[in-house]
Amino acid sequence: MKKAESIRILGIETSCDETSVALLDLNNEHLKIQKHYIATQIPIHARYGGVVPEIAARTHVAEVISLIEKTTGWKSDFDAVAVTQGPGLATALRVGLEAGKTLAWSFRKPLLPVNHLEGHLASAWLVPANRKNWKFPILFLLVSGGHTELVLMQDFCRYKVLGRTRDDAAGEAFDKTAKLLGLEYPGGPKLSQLASKGNPKTFDLPRPMIHDPSLDFSFSGLKTAVRYLIENEARKSKIEDVCASIQAAIVDVLVAKTVRAALKVKPKAVAVVGGVSANPLLKSELRKALRRQCPGIKLLAPAKGLFTDNGAMIAAAGLWQVMKKQKISDWKKLDAQPDLDL
Ligand code: KG4
Ligand code: ZN
Repeated sequence: MKKAESIRILGIETSCDETSVALLDLNNEHLKIQKHYIATQIPIHARYGGVVPEIAARTHVAEVISLIEKTTGWKSDFDAVAVTQGPGLATALRVGLEAGKTLAWSFRKPLLPVNHLEGHLASAWLVPANRKNWKFPILFLLVSGGHTELVLMQDFCRYKVLGRTRDDAAGEAFDKTAKLLGLEYPGGPKLSQLASKGNPKTFDLPRPMIHDPSLDFSFSGLKTAVRYLIENEARKSKIEDVCASIQAAIVDVLVAKTVRAALKVKPKAVAVVGGVSANPLLKSELRKALRRQCPGIKLLAPAKGLFTDNGAMIAAAGLWQVMKKQKISDWKKLDAQPDLDL
């Protein structure tokens, strides 16, 4: 493979309900997303109220070839293929992995298996201004539909998980409470939109584990409290006020735990990544709290459009492997790892 100073990586993402392919180009420190396509399956799964794994896999099959064609024109103008190996839905992951293996075999290129969670961390690195502040250690709040973790990045490809959710992820808390309110899948973005017009002080919902000294999270109790609220008082209230109260409870816990972790490990920067990092209140509250309690520590976040799953972040995490000269695996031996962790 070529030197890391000049390299083009093709990234493929099919772990859940977005098929995405990107071409990332690094040329003498200049990083550019040359091409990037995301085909969302959200309208398909919305009919069922959540992701149906078999339908997700079949839809990836239909999409991934056409996105690879659009991105590459079937020319081998790339140096390696990075593909999500896990975590995610087993059948969905295998579609991307098999597409990656086929490209690796037919164009004789290395295949880089990428941890989807590392991809989310790399989504913040794609922002040029963030790369200027990319000094280790960096504390990450990783908040996606399936994961809520506090991760200390000590170097490229070197991580320590400081805390994680003991039950539901923050994204799940948004989606499940939104479903209880009758909002369409995925409810997180809709709940957050309605919340921006409501009063967060209307209902005093629990902030699970907020005072617990550990850096772990728990969100399942919040879901139960919201169910109880909806069955009782909330029926007479404005949905905007209910949404604002739910959002405030989730954001308060995420912010408090991140600040606690930052005070403990004293990172050079804090980053928030994953689908829930699209939430404007989370970013503004986190920024405020860091300014107050950890002055001088910057908050890094992905660019608009790269919060949720995408191929560019997978290509970026593949690039990290090249930069760190990680051993290239034999693609024939690679299989999906649905439960992969950092
Ligand atoms: O990272 P992601 O695209 O997929 C996983 O890897 O899981 O995250 C999707 C999650 C969903 O739970 C979705 O509701 C949530 O991100 N999400 C939001 C917002 N936008 C997306 N949650 C709260 N506020 C938002 N604005
Ligand atoms: Zn994701």
